[in-house]
Amino acid sequence: MEIRRIGVVGLGAMGAGIAQLGIEAGYAVVGREISADLGERARERIAHFLERKVEKDQLAAEEREDALARLTLTTDLSALADCDLVIEAIVEDLGAKLELFRELERIVRPEAILATNTSALSVTEIAAATSTPERVVGMHFFNPAPLMPLVEIVRAELSAEEAVETAYGVAERMGKRPIRCHDTPGFVVNRILIPLLNDCIRALDEARVTPEVLDTAMTAGAGWPMGPCTLVDLVGIDVHVHASEALYEKLREPRMAPPPRIVAMRNAGLLGRKSGRGFYRYD
Ligand code: 3HC
Repeated sequence: MEIRRIGVVGLGAMGAGIAQLGIEAGYAVVGREISADLGERARERIAHFLERKVEKDQLAAEEREDALARLTLTTDLSALADCDLVIEAIVEDLGAKLELFRELERIVRPEAILATNTSALSVTEIAAATSTPERVVGMHFFNPAPLMPLVEIVRAELSAEEAVETAYGVAERMGKRPIRCHDTPGFVVNRILIPLLNDCIRALDEARVTPEVLDTAMTAGAGWPMGPCTLVDLVGIDVHVHASEALYEKLREPRMAPPPRIVAMRNAGLLGRKSGRGFYRYD
């Protein structure tokens, strides 16, 4: 199936990154946010990163302009009616996603594909909100989406082969390295990364080290590109706690459960980079 127009619902860090990948790959992208202000913020973020690419000779100025011209913003979900693929990147709340997929099913054409960028929720459960679960797949991008090559293309229980292959092809055209996997808790990467990051956070107290020291240990000793505390701050403390809880609920493995230290941070509003403070402070 040929994809020309992509809808992205939710233009936070992940959604804005996905929209950026879409316009850079030549797709028309309709980005939907709940307020015009939030939409504009995402456009500015995308424009900034594309400008940096121009400054570094990775993109021609004209290509940047063309890409930005392919981005349309809306607050109205019905503006996604003509999309061939809609990628959902809203808050990690099952109820909110179920409601959105129910609405999307009413709005977009029956042959359009509906994808979720969920980190740890079940794609099958999200698909069950619709009467056409065969067109629902997972497209799980990694943070920061424009930089991380992997996209997990998640096959839910009732996903049609064509929907899976079309989503895979879109990820490839975005310059990504997609993999296909089944809809198991955490898919491939988060099944491994979430408990590992939780171990890292527990090691802070067990080994009585600071976040700086732990980050040095894992970058200098294990070759990680960024330390675990920097990474959790980037992903978002709230997103990490939610993913841990969702995996713990499904798998009942103690290592999946979020350590009390990070739950307390989430409750105190220390959400990482996006709130200006997490393990570290940000200006
Ligand atoms: N969006 C778009 N462009 C961005 C960006 C973003 N969020 N962040 C940076 N860039 C651009 C910038 O223009 C930057 O150049 P500039 O600083 O000159 O303006 C350019 O990309 C290069 O950025 P960096 O110099 O910071 O790139 P690095 O070489 O340092 O690599 C990294 C950055 C790729 C993030 C690397 O540190 C890394 O691989 N970190 C690990 C990240 C990771 O593990 N992510 C997965 C998290 S788990 C997850 O997402 C799952 C989810 O379900 C929770």
